[in-house]
Amino acid sequence: MSVESTTVFVDLAERSYEIRIGSDNLADIGRWVESLGDISQTIVITDSNVRQLYGETVLRTLSTIDTRIDIITVPAGEASKSIPMLDEILNQMLSLQADRKSLVLALGGGVVGDLAGFAAATYGRGIRFLQIPTTLLATVDSSVGGKVGINLPGAKNMVGAFWQPQGVLVDVNVLQSLPERDYRAGLAEVIKYGVIQDVEFFGKLEAHADLILTRDPVLMRDIIARCCQLKAEVVTEDERETTGRRAILNYGHTFCHALESCTGYGQFLHGEAVAIGMLCASRLAESLEMIDADITQRQFQLLTKFGLPTDVPADLNRQELVEAMQHDKKTEHGKLRFILPVAMGHVKIVDDIDSKLVQAALN
Ligand code: GLY
Repeated sequence: MSVESTTVFVDLAERSYEIRIGSDNLADIGRWVESLGDISQTIVITDSNVRQLYGETVLRTLSTIDTRIDIITVPAGEASKSIPMLDEILNQMLSLQADRKSLVLALGGGVVGDLAGFAAATYGRGIRFLQIPTTLLATVDSSVGGKVGINLPGAKNMVGAFWQPQGVLVDVNVLQSLPERDYRAGLAEVIKYGVIQDVEFFGKLEAHADLILTRDPVLMRDIIARCCQLKAEVVTEDERETTGRRAILNYGHTFCHALESCTGYGQFLHGEAVAIGMLCASRLAESLEMIDADITQRQFQLLTKFGLPTDVPADLNRQELVEAMQHDKKTEHGKLRFILPVAMGHVKIVDDIDSKLVQAALN
């Protein structure tokens, strides 16, 4: 099914760019590259799974324009977001004679976007890059706002940069090929925008939950566009996360990061850990008498409807989880900081919460 395309503008002065959301539009990327002007070479960075699915279409459209084309394929999976893989990519770019007029085209999910974006940010002190996110999570979150980077062993996203792309192209039909579990995990970040910024949007998700699960292209175009717009508003106000505004996007993430690290990053997909983390944060807000129980209940019902996990596994040691939160890179001097709801569609940052209340919110 073909849907009319829509555009979200990310307003960042000379770093502004468009997110173009449509269907069956991967073949438009050639013209977009051409329109950037003065591109000597396009280096497509992708992973082994995505290359098989969409590599051919992207290479074909690039072959119709005047650009040298190269492709670098990394193994699919979080392990690729590493210093050795970055080293390999940068050296491959060097042997492909990449220069300041080379363009990186990141084709893939969050891992590829973060890794390829960081390679673009660092090679030759920074070259241009375009993004084609291929997972729902990458589409509504990691491809918006220019956070790129890699992991250190035991410290997720610890090395990185703010490096905005020249543009982002989203093909909603790509969602059809996602495994069910990955699609649902992406929906957790979608729900997050409703809780933190837009009560009406949250209501829309509740009203259309069944259709969302069918991956209806028109509805998903509108939902993706709204998420990107909401995130773009935040990024415009606080591009480098210095004022605290951008931190609201981390709703549920302090709990989420602790869950991910205490389970060795293997048990939960990121969106699944976000789902559990949002409910913990909401319970914490309840215990601080910031909200009534119905705000948590509405999130619980929607997350459950989307088949997302809602409980911290019983076998995880609560004390260890709280300690992991204290070591989170977003923690300042060991003080626990949370983004907590004050109403549906509104959150605030709360610092220095008693760790006993945090531990209680895990249950
Ligand atoms: N994913 C949170 C941010 O981009 O700030």
